[in-house]
Amino acid sequence: MCGIVGYIGDKNATDILLNGLESLEYRGYDSAGISVLSGGHILLCKERGRLSNLREKVAATDISGNIGIGHTRWATHGAPTQINAHPHANKAGDIVVVHNGIIENYEVLREELKNEGYEFISETDTEVVPHLIDYYYNGDLREAVTKTISRLIGSYALCVISSREDGKIVVAREGSPLIIGLGKGENFIASDIPAVLSYTKDFYLLNDGDVAVITENSVDITDKNGAPSPKDIYHVDYSAEDATKGDYEHFMLKEIFEQPAAIKRTLIGRIDENLQIDPVEMNKEFFEKVDRLYIVACGTAYHAGLVGKRAIETLAGIPVEVDLASEFRYRGPLISEKTGVILISQSGETADTLAALRLAHTYGSPVLSITNVVGSSVARESDYVFYTYAGPEIAVASTKAYTTQLVALYLTAVAAAEITKKTPQNLLDFFKKEILSLPEKVTEVLNLNDDVKKLAERIYKELDVYFLGRGLDYSVALEASLKMKEISYIHSDTYASGEIKHGPIALIDDGTVTIAIITDKQISGKTLSNMKEVIARGAFTVGFASPDCEDCEKTFDVYFKLPKSSPLLAPVAAIVPLQLLAYHVSCLKGCDVDKPRNLAKSVTVE
Ligand code: G6P
Repeated sequence: MCGIVGYIGDKNATDILLNGLESLEYRGYDSAGISVLSGGHILLCKERGRLSNLREKVAATDISGNIGIGHTRWATHGAPTQINAHPHANKAGDIVVVHNGIIENYEVLREELKNEGYEFISETDTEVVPHLIDYYYNGDLREAVTKTISRLIGSYALCVISSREDGKIVVAREGSPLIIGLGKGENFIASDIPAVLSYTKDFYLLNDGDVAVITENSVDITDKNGAPSPKDIYHVDYSAEDATKGDYEHFMLKEIFEQPAAIKRTLIGRIDENLQIDPVEMNKEFFEKVDRLYIVACGTAYHAGLVGKRAIETLAGIPVEVDLASEFRYRGPLISEKTGVILISQSGETADTLAALRLAHTYGSPVLSITNVVGSSVARESDYVFYTYAGPEIAVASTKAYTTQLVALYLTAVAAAEITKKTPQNLLDFFKKEILSLPEKVTEVLNLNDDVKKLAERIYKELDVYFLGRGLDYSVALEASLKMKEISYIHSDTYASGEIKHGPIALIDDGTVTIAIITDKQISGKTLSNMKEVIARGAFTVGFASPDCEDCEKTFDVYFKLPKSSPLLAPVAAIVPLQLLAYHVSCLKGCDVDKPRNLAKSVTVE
């Protein structure tokens, strides 16, 4: 969740750390800190609040050196104060540590260390780490770190520097991402590639259990047994510019407008204009092994999974259950070697999703992951991987990751259908053509931006907004509602439209904003009837509907026409104006669109 950066070389570490942390702020942003090793001394500077606060403080204190570590925090243990900010140090201040993850047994360790005379100044779980390293230090920092991590239960990505051993950074990983960027006469460490992408495109991706000692000219990695753990170099082919805002005011807006291009990238190499799909890229083998499926994910990715269930069941006739990863992992799921598990994760690092993957493997279930981040933990541990290739998604609220996940799921459903042969070929070809036309449909719907902004002006002062839909429209409504609450802090709920009369309608009053999504002609009349029920109670109603909804124009106070689409594929275009709506409402309310309060992009804790 938190962001980590490290540098060792001949440049000023301070600049590299601060710039790296800036690009990682989406991972956590309630406090930040850096520590550098200079002339055999450790210097440390940390501050609560956004990185800009730290920048000001650093500028006033003139910290510089060639070795350093930095951290941007998303608080788990202890409030977001300056004292709880990382790095954390031992009492002498000659061992400093930044940490991402959670040390679950920190209370036991804390008591043990207190009995040994160690004093604690913060409320964090992390502070046990520098004290343990101090306790175990016997002239070898790597050994002290190795002994320390053998005592830790939980998850961690750790970076350690010490003035007792100048010229090196020691890092360790278990359950939280950590990569090493390779330079000439310099090396970099980060929790995520964009942090150091302006300096290098070559990386080592650490595995759980790895410990590495990094100097300016060497990287020495050992695995959990202490054996050498050589790594292939992972070369990144996107540029630092891809992870910048360009001319857009916010990453979220840029990412919304990037969706046609992102979807094209998801399609390339998977399906050609002759409607042939690549069997390897499409993981057809996975579907030969299974007779039922679980789709498991969190947040937006879970909402994509709801659509995926419908696509796979409709086209391939394979029964699918969809579960939240945080539920799946503790429910004792009824799965076996014949149950395929499809994991969806933009980052590929979400703790619950990763745990679900590992659980599935203990049952012998084959795992196919749909992820955006090449080389992520989920990708590396899965049996089959489908990369969405959406490009870096920086805004905390997920947009292009969602629509490309939908496209990946449609293609996956088609691949499964080619195995099960449950859909006649001509119908399958029709769907394939429709899938290929999705980039144009998204381009078309982006033209609604100005009108959506006007709607945002009408509703941005509201306290509650309700979303309704049936079938796939309900799945889209869930995602639309999540976007609204995440970035505008407006209370928002979603109901399957048939359920509104079973309780929620009590919430409808004069002017209550109720937004309906209607893309399936066969059931549009039903949702319209439900809308009439809320209209009768005074609701202000907004419809996002396909052009064949004859009564929509006269039913809704505000009505947006979506592009014509088969109902199964309609969610891709339908969500786009709703992403824009949340975006404009957030801007009008003066919220921090890209970094909404309390949230983080990649949730690497339970
Ligand atoms: C966080 C993000 C969401 C995301 C969810 C799952 O909550 O803020 O946008 O949908 O994690 O993330 P994943 O990387 O696994 O898709």
